[in-house]
Amino acid sequence: MKVLILPDAQAAIARAAEIVARTVTAKPDAVLGLATGGTMLPLYEALAQRHNDDGLSFAQTTSFNLDEYIGLAPDHPCSYHHYMQEAFFRHVDIDPLRTHLPKGDAADPRAASHDYEALIEAAGGIDLQLLGIGQNGHIGFNEPTASLGSRTRVKTLTESTRRANQRYFSSFDETPRYAITTGVATILSSRKCLLIATGESKAEAVANMVEGPVSAACPASALQFHARATVILDEAAASALKFTDYYENVHPEGRDSVFE
Ligand code: F6R
Repeated sequence: MKVLILPDAQAAIARAAEIVARTVTAKPDAVLGLATGGTMLPLYEALAQRHNDDGLSFAQTTSFNLDEYIGLAPDHPCSYHHYMQEAFFRHVDIDPLRTHLPKGDAADPRAASHDYEALIEAAGGIDLQLLGIGQNGHIGFNEPTASLGSRTRVKTLTESTRRANQRYFSSFDETPRYAITTGVATILSSRKCLLIATGESKAEAVANMVEGPVSAACPASALQFHARATVILDEAAASALKFTDYYENVHPEGRDSVFE
């Protein structure tokens, strides 16, 4: 796992934006795996800015989001469809027909999950998968004890995830209990993964992911099996790591190593 430690969240996001921009420039028809959540908001803002200022184009890219709440229609203000529209899609030139999120309002969420996995495969798989991490070590909505061999399916959210996401809803009871999420194995099938974590609240989960045993207790630790996984951290999110000196030695100030 490539661990890049940047001084603060702003620098971490700028580094992540650079990697996404490089991917899209090298392969304009790249298939991007997208994530939602607070961590990603400044990244989408930075990418929209590159679109406006430098002409970074998403016109030929295809996107697949990690997850969507069950029971929310795309136009629900708390749906991830709505989040993506507001945070990213409407600010860039991506073709709406090539953007995909799981159908949270499908009559048969299991069939919709199966179809979503098939769509990703039909698109040739994901070139770059963006990821955040939950304080409990989840990636997508693969909560602790999720199968590390899982594919897109329905997951029941933990109480801690619902509490963390309650801020977007009017109450805890309103916060959805279920989601469709791509699986851990779906994520591991991506050609590259880029996980971003900022802030001290992520420090323990980050240490478990990077240096802990690979365990379903921390689904993000499965990324240790991925040959091309990059983790971008600010110093606060990196604060519980043991081998920080090594990471900083290989990637001073989060730069590429001399062999890249
Ligand atoms: C979102 C997702 C989640 C978030 C994670 C971190 O699509 O799949 O795994 O990335 O919960 O969320 P924030 O960034 O809000 O802390």
